Amino acid sequence: TLLSETHPLVSGRTTGSPLVRALRAERPERTPVWFMRQAGRSLPEYRALRSEHRMLDACLNPELASEITLQPVRRHGVDAAVFFSDIVVPLLLAGVDVDLVAGTGPVFAEPVRTAADVARCRAEFTPERLREALGPIREAVALTAAELGETPLIGFAGAPFTLAAYLVEGGPSREHLRARTLMQSDPDTWRELLAWTADLSAVFLEAQIEAGASAVQLFDSWAGSLSVAAYREHVAPASRRALSLARELTYPHPWEADATLRVPVIHFAVGSGHLLEELTALDPDAVGVDWRLPLDEASARLGGRMPLQGNIDPAFLGAPAEVLEAHVADVLARGMHAPAHILNLGHGVPPETDPDVLTRIVQLAHAG
Ligand code: CP3
Repeated sequence: TLLSETHPLVSGRTTGSPLVRALRAERPERTPVWFMRQAGRSLPEYRALRSEHRMLDACLNPELASEITLQPVRRHGVDAAVFFSDIVVPLLLAGVDVDLVAGTGPVFAEPVRTAADVARCRAEFTPERLREALGPIREAVALTAAELGETPLIGFAGAPFTLAAYLVEGGPSREHLRARTLMQSDPDTWRELLAWTADLSAVFLEAQIEAGASAVQLFDSWAGSLSVAAYREHVAPASRRALSLARELTYPHPWEADATLRVPVIHFAVGSGHLLEELTALDPDAVGVDWRLPLDEASARLGGRMPLQGNIDPAFLGAPAEVLEAHVADVLARGMHAPAHILNLGHGVPPETDPDVLTRIVQLAHAG
């Protein structure tokens, strides 16, 4: 399927941005920087807007979602916006009964645990139903991309395993044992479950790309709980499927004959140092690295060929300025070992973060 001619990458608006260039494995004149969860609890202007709306209501209000997405760009001067939404939004829009409870996490009315549960979900909460409900998301993305001009918008989705882990557990869990047990005890049901969550992830990504996202990130927040073998056999095929629909959205390259334009993909999983090669095997344009693994080591393991994103340890955000500055300098120096580097945290912005500290990090990245 064709991207529209007005898409920010096709029309050329975001094509030369530092983020998009880094995702093409180039070294732009300044290191691009953004923060996972930059739109959210650490900003007073966010808390003021959110105080009158429930999280999921805010996600489905295009003007509000767009405004919240733009807030950190205005405040910090980051090189990309990340769309304000949540990994459970596609489940909700497909019809699943889910709520986000502050302090607890996603809570599902009915956990999905048996072959019959999975079959019912696949029959009832279909990708088609999701597609028809994505109007507010498309509208929010379009509003935001128009407002951002040359700054790219990053769309995202939860990866199939992370969504499935929540569905099987019925809410947050530490080691996702119920989900991992289903995977090992009933691999056929597991495969059906992941094929379904992969389709919902794919349709959520597709809508954001069509509406104007210039890059997307697949968040496999909980993949770190998997062994290499379990990831490879029971999870990687579904993540590949989630990305395939997004990858089919292309456009004949406006400047280079025989080339096509495609929206670049970032693949990220927390605590996944042992899975680095597996995440890379899905052929993303960049891999996100959490704070546990130094970027120079990550790059060496990937043969020095993969653009990397990360990986400031969130624990340094509350440290004295000179301690934080030394850490950021170290991350930037190690990032030089990769073909390209997008500065970010190793996981999302903690709610108690002083926003001025994030602004300072942007200044440090841009100063080089
Ligand atoms: O960088 C990004 O902003 C990407 C999008 C993203 C969000 N949440 C945005 C968000 C992603 C990938 C998530 C993942 C997510 N959401 C997880 C997985 C673990 C992880 O950290 O990766 C979980 C457990 C959730 C569930 C969730 N989201 C809860 C329980 C809440 C709080 C509910 C409330 O009423 O505030 C959220 C809110 C949320 N998700 C916000 C954002 C920007 C807004 C407020 C915040 O910063 O917490």
